[in-house]
Amino acid sequence: MADSLSKPSYCNAVRCQLEMGESLHMALDNYDLLNLDWKPMRKRDSLILPLKSGLKDEQLRVLKGLSFEIHFTYQEFERAELSNNPHAQLRRTVSDWLTGKSNAAEIEPLVSQLPRKWERYGDMIILPERAFESDDWVKLLNRCTKSQLEALWRCITEALSGKRLARQRPIAKDMFRSSQTELLFGESGWVEFTDHGVQFGFDATQVMFSSGNNTERRRIGNIPMDGEVVVDAYAGVGYYTLHMAHRSQAMHVHAFEMNPHSIEGLQWAIKANHLENKITVHHGDNQLLLPNVYAQADRIHLGILPSSEHAWEHAIQCLKPSGGWLHIHMNVQEKDIESWCVETLEKLSTLAESHGRKWTIESQHLEKVKWFSPRVRHVVLDVHCQSRDT
Ligand SMILES: C[S@@+](CC[C@H](N)C(=O)[O-])C[C@H]1O[C@@H](n2cnc3c(N)ncnc32)[C@H](O)[C@@H]1O
Repeated sequence: MADSLSKPSYCNAVRCQLEMGESLHMALDNYDLLNLDWKPMRKRDSLILPLKSGLKDEQLRVLKGLSFEIHFTYQEFERAELSNNPHAQLRRTVSDWLTGKSNAAEIEPLVSQLPRKWERYGDMIILPERAFESDDWVKLLNRCTKSQLEALWRCITEALSGKRLARQRPIAKDMFRSSQTELLFGESGWVEFTDHGVQFGFDATQVMFSSGNNTERRRIGNIPMDGEVVVDAYAGVGYYTLHMAHRSQAMHVHAFEMNPHSIEGLQWAIKANHLENKITVHHGDNQLLLPNVYAQADRIHLGILPSSEHAWEHAIQCLKPSGGWLHIHMNVQEKDIESWCVETLEKLSTLAESHGRKWTIESQHLEKVKWFSPRVRHVVLDVHCQSRDT
């Protein structure tokens, strides 16, 4: 048995040029298509990534929207190291739990539906939305007693080296983009962890934290902002505010946020990172409060999806008359990104002119943060505004 587990085996796979490997890996990971049982393989100048078995055409269709060339192949792969593979640990633990509760023929299909990825905030493991929600699992879980269920959640938590377990729920379509995470094992939803050297804390059952924006948090925190006054119009628990104040060394950050649960986390983190003198929290609707900082900022961060457009006019007015930077988040169809950049610069120029700002407005960088859905990218456009009078 152990021998057959360690043997190489054939599996469907997808190949791309090496330089696109990270993007392909991210796309497969986002759509849960990647087979973690096998080791990705490099062959000359290409990367070959193993696909999960039993994928349907509609699941593979998301790959057709990618902006670079890929090829489907059938390939022999080596097993991924068991010790580095918490999924294998999860399979073993859950198989043990299932023994005696299901007949032998049911166990493998149930185990094959176990989640392949999860998030971790401090000691809390957050399973994806659909984990344990298939018909087979729901049927089984409905037959279980309370203590059997608790034993299942406990053994999963331990297999994934956590202390608490939760399951993601769809992010609410309310103004706060509230989290609806459901706690499965453990008492409290409060999590604390460090992200690129910055401490975060919040109630994960109340507010969202998008781990998919990890690269963007790293990038923003690497931009030097010494001496700058910065406005973060959608601060949340401080995803960018804290990185700009701590790592980018902004002189002062004005953080606007309306969700009291997010503000609780933000206030906690301001203390934990000793940033009391560098961050002012403006509690309320930024549409009403941004005028309080008109003409004061060197940089405005506009981090909300699907669009931050309704804050652009305020953002223009928050910048100093000499100009500054805008970081504009947006969900854009991959095929429309170029035209969206052009349109955005035109709209900003019109808004600036209408407020008497004689600026040259240029795009300096476009960051593709993540795939939001099969053809839609979360992008950030860095825009520089420079007064023509200086
Ligand atoms: C999507 S979250 C921030 C997510 C974060 N950028 C990330 O990467 O994980 C956006 C935040 O903006 C806040 N927000 C939305 N509209 C607002 C408004 N008009 N005024 C102040 N805050 C607002 C929400 O409460 C939420 O905390």
